Amino acid sequence: MIQRVPEPELMDDVDQVAAYGAADFNAGDDHTLSLILSLVRDTASGAPPRRVIDLGCGPGNITLRLSDAFPESEVIGVDGAAAMLHLARARAATMDHPPRFMQCPLQQLVESDLVNTADLIVSNSLLHHLHQPDLLWALTSSLAVHGCRVLHRDLRRPFSVSELDRLQRTYLPGAPAVLIQDFRASLAAAFEPDEVTAQLKRAGLNGLRVEAEDDRYLVVSGLVD
Ligand SMILES: C[S@@+](CC[C@H](N)C(=O)[O-])C[C@H]1O[C@@H](n2cnc3c(N)ncnc32)[C@H](O)[C@@H]1O
Repeated sequence: MIQRVPEPELMDDVDQVAAYGAADFNAGDDHTLSLILSLVRDTASGAPPRRVIDLGCGPGNITLRLSDAFPESEVIGVDGAAAMLHLARARAATMDHPPRFMQCPLQQLVESDLVNTADLIVSNSLLHHLHQPDLLWALTSSLAVHGCRVLHRDLRRPFSVSELDRLQRTYLPGAPAVLIQDFRASLAAAFEPDEVTAQLKRAGLNGLRVEAEDDRYLVVSGLVD
């Protein structure tokens, strides 16, 4: 078993943001969206959400997809990194129904007017960045209205360094060095499903479940009751 090694929370380095923005995450991002759409279809009579919040939205990979998928919803992406949001806003500029982007450290969002307003809360590739993972669960509780649908998808930490090496060789064989370094650091900073189950229990989020997905992800989904 490898020990968790946290990485910096914000991704605000210009080269790192440029490499992230140029990388092709389409397959994974489309998959995250399909999980969100299934959750919406299967809950609350399939009614579209009124307000969607994408936490740690980065350059908007998921936020923009959500705006397209829910043209009548208010979609809000929140991130603390100015460089990420600069890219997100540029990408959204030509959309008919652009999302709203908000620069805010997640630690301060509990004091915002988003509290108790969201009926869909999502994140993609965020949890492993948080030094205090309980922040994500406290925020999920505080931003949600009763019955809010929730889907958080992230990497999970491999059991050994050799498994981490295998994942990198398999999934990023010839990527730019900065992305390989990010991927390895993210895997080492990620949580195991059992750890997330304990976090949810501590937060009293009894309507959320964690599932391992293929060889490197975990998905937390369900309802806030
Ligand atoms: C790996 S990126 C994921 C971006 C996007 N969700 C995606 O799927 O491509 C993680 C993002 O979370 C943001 N982030 C991490 N910790 C944060 C915090 N405490 N407050 C605000 N943003 C944070 C980072 O700045 C970064 O943009």
